Amino acid sequence: MADDKKDYILSIKGMSKSFGRNKVLKGINMDVKRGSIMGLMGENGAGKSTMMKCLFGTYQKDEGTIVLDGKEVNFSGPKDALENGVAMVHQELNQCLERSVVDNLFLGRYPKNSFGVVDEGRMKKEASDLFRKLGITVNLTQPMKRMSVSQRQMCEIAKAISYNSKVIVLDEPTSSLTAPEVAKLFKMMRQLRDQGISLVYISHKMDEIFDICDQISVLRDGALVMTKDSKDTDMNELISAMVGRSLDNRFPPVDNQPGETILQVNGLSTKYAPKLQNISFDVKKGEIFGLYGLVGAGRTELLETIFGMRTRAAGNVIYRGKMMNFDSPKDAMDHGFALITEERKANGLFLKADLTFNTTIANMKQYRSGIALSNDQMVRATSEEIRIMHTKCMGPDDLISSLSGGNQQKVIFGRWLERSPSIFMMDDPTRGIDVGAKYEIYELIIKMAKEGNTIIVVSSEMPEILGITNRIGVMSNGHLAGIVNTKETNQEELLRLSAMYL
Ligand SMILES: Nc1ncnc2c1ncn2[C@@H]1O[C@H](COP(=O)(O)OP(=O)(O)OP(=O)(O)O)[C@@H](O)[C@H]1O
Ligand SMILES: [Mg+2]
Repeated sequence: MADDKKDYILSIKGMSKSFGRNKVLKGINMDVKRGSIMGLMGENGAGKSTMMKCLFGTYQKDEGTIVLDGKEVNFSGPKDALENGVAMVHQELNQCLERSVVDNLFLGRYPKNSFGVVDEGRMKKEASDLFRKLGITVNLTQPMKRMSVSQRQMCEIAKAISYNSKVIVLDEPTSSLTAPEVAKLFKMMRQLRDQGISLVYISHKMDEIFDICDQISVLRDGALVMTKDSKDTDMNELISAMVGRSLDNRFPPVDNQPGETILQVNGLSTKYAPKLQNISFDVKKGEIFGLYGLVGAGRTELLETIFGMRTRAAGNVIYRGKMMNFDSPKDAMDHGFALITEERKANGLFLKADLTFNTTIANMKQYRSGIALSNDQMVRATSEEIRIMHTKCMGPDDLISSLSGGNQQKVIFGRWLERSPSIFMMDDPTRGIDVGAKYEIYELIIKMAKEGNTIIVVSSEMPEILGITNRIGVMSNGHLAGIVNTKETNQEELLRLSAMYL
């Protein structure tokens, strides 16, 4: 029945797009059915975001046609797209952090009253109606910057929905949402679908894709290589379509040998909310120590406190037998600690600079001691990180802003690798990274551990934390609920511990 043209809300034909010499989209055809959810998958840099930005008018396509609801369209920019039935939630949050939730929601389309004055009352009412419908509770008048990344992400999604569009594109919208928020979003998406709206859903998370999508399309290297009904395909077929080969195992063998205790955390508590409560654990040299817990359990806070970013109320951090309560990240970095933080933008990507600058900037030790790296050394180091991380780019002098989201993440990883940290803390390091590249990061983590470095890794993905660690500390509501040996535990035990202090 859906073969009838009228059943398609969106038809993309022969879409091509190049950036300079880089042909990113190579004649893509994709049809999206009315009232359906289309999943879009593919490796980092495959062209997913570019394709959707060409639809949304952020980029102008070089060739091809877009037919929306029976009419050919060619949006001049996002405003044009929004006014004509297409909305998009971008991969990277782009909000005015100083302004309120309501302001952000209505930016560029403030409703005016009959005197031509911005109608704040109406704005507040519409905003609160919308958030109530979505089941989101936030203070609408507080500035964006006071909200968690996940709340901000929910606001972006609410905004896209508020345009009453025919097609809504969601580019990795759940990257920092909590499980209940994801559930709310999915419920909302199903409601929209049942009202006849179509959604394009970009994600690297297989379970989500199978949960929510009616159909799945896969992009590889700028070409659409597969479209199937979700019920007619499986994870293995998707992976093969994405990477062009099958991956036998999702995790490499964890064959590192942890040595003596190198880091001790004793009775650590923090002063400000969310509070850590009396946390104690030891980590060994060459060990991969996982931190599991629900979003909000305090894992990020724990890493940040060790790294000197948060104020301690009590307790100590002991490193190589010496008290090391760092007062600042700089202090921690000088002692060989590194922290990859959760939010990509907060990692300090220098968006106007190239890969070389972004990769070597953290090597401040050299700068300070006066033996700055020469230009050649910087470029060489960057090329090496590009090779190790398999970063998809043209070369070290590419602008970081020209890389896909997942590839930018790899550059951040490479930057910290450049410092060869001995205690490497990672907060959700594979977020937004495709299956093939995830495997490479796991290999890298295990290799670093084998070389005697210590890894503390936070992950919300159960298979990942069970797949690459030696031991796992489970956090629950600011407490460390337990420490388990990875080989001797299972999903049920991790879930049980993570709910202990709720
Ligand atoms: N503004 C730009 N200038 C130059 N090249 C770009 C630009 N935007 C994207 N590219 C290139 O286009 C290719 C596809 O990028 P895109 O962002 O579409 O990938 P993606 O599939 O969304 O990946 P990810 O999963 O990492 O988000 C990449 O090689 C990227 O470097
Ligand atoms: Mg993308």
